[in-house]
Amino acid sequence: MLHYKPEDISVPEFHKLLLGGVGPRPIALVSTLSADGKKNLSPFSFFNAFGVNPPMIAFSPARRGKDASLKDTYNNLIATKECVVQSVTFSMVEQISLASTEYPAEIDEFIKSGLTPIDSDFVKPKRVKESPFQMECKLIEMKSYGESGGSANMAICEVLKIHVAEDIFTNGLIDPKKIDLVGRMSGNFYCRANGEAIFEVEKPISKKGIGYDQLPDFIKHSHVFTANNLAKLANVESIPSEKSVKDFITEIAKENFEGFEQSKEAFYRYQRLSNYKYMMKTAIKFINENHPKAKYFSELAAKCALENNDTEFAWNAVLSYHHLVN
Ligand SMILES: Cc1cc2nc3c(=O)[nH]c(=O)nc-3n(C[C@H](O)[C@H](O)[C@H](O)COP(=O)(O)O)c2cc1C
Repeated sequence: MLHYKPEDISVPEFHKLLLGGVGPRPIALVSTLSADGKKNLSPFSFFNAFGVNPPMIAFSPARRGKDASLKDTYNNLIATKECVVQSVTFSMVEQISLASTEYPAEIDEFIKSGLTPIDSDFVKPKRVKESPFQMECKLIEMKSYGESGGSANMAICEVLKIHVAEDIFTNGLIDPKKIDLVGRMSGNFYCRANGEAIFEVEKPISKKGIGYDQLPDFIKHSHVFTANNLAKLANVESIPSEKSVKDFITEIAKENFEGFEQSKEAFYRYQRLSNYKYMMKTAIKFINENHPKAKYFSELAAKCALENNDTEFAWNAVLSYHHLVN
């Protein structure tokens, strides 16, 4: 590991480190008005939501690195106490990048970026039509930390109203696959929340899971399971009983799976298809035949079940080998 205190390296270097490790960061596209009514639009990725009752968000229009001057967004917020904060989607990422240009205060970044201003209901700054998620906000507090280049100004805002496109929902939830958000990483890198980048992690069970320390050693020391697999196995309330494992083996053995083939090649085909039940049927057959790879196959079937959120199957699968050989 490398170790740094802020005083060990320059501010830009520390900035780079921080931005590399704290990410992907959501991006707030912030619309404000100056005291004399000039529109301003800029992206800020020092941004997040912090509570919902009342709904609070914060972002940091920090002092400019080069001369410690204050950004237009900061000045506008101090003068008018209002903003609209919108989420940034992949379809608008180049436009928000353009809006981040350090144009003079009198320049309207809506015009420069080509994004479309539309009226808000409760505040004077305009909303950005292209964003599917827009929050009308009032400034509650501006907290400043330092007066040097890069010093933070935390704009803490209450959300007064949200506008959200109806077509980004699935079953009442904003669907990450539909909203297509982007996040900021280090340097000029962004990431797009779509495809395989989006995955589900089941919440830990409400009753307490057995924990990593209670996993049997033969599971902990397996070369097949990753740390994520083990943590998922550790999130059960109890380890399946001998009887449950026995019933599981009997059930799988007598199951007449359509088109089932018993061979190593078929096993790997089932693995590619994430068909862990067929994998396990093959593994049980191999265990009974004392096949040298029987343990490996049963663990692969368990791993596949885990990755398909079937933890009960995974436990029974991994215990089957020990039940049958011991
Ligand atoms: C994706 C992205 C994220 C940014 N995040 C921040 C940030 O969190 N804080 C900040 O001060 N500047 C940030 N910037 C730079 C500002 O957008 C830039 O300084 C902008 O010109 C400020 O505009 P203003 O002076 O009109 O407020 C970011 C730029 C981009 C492209």
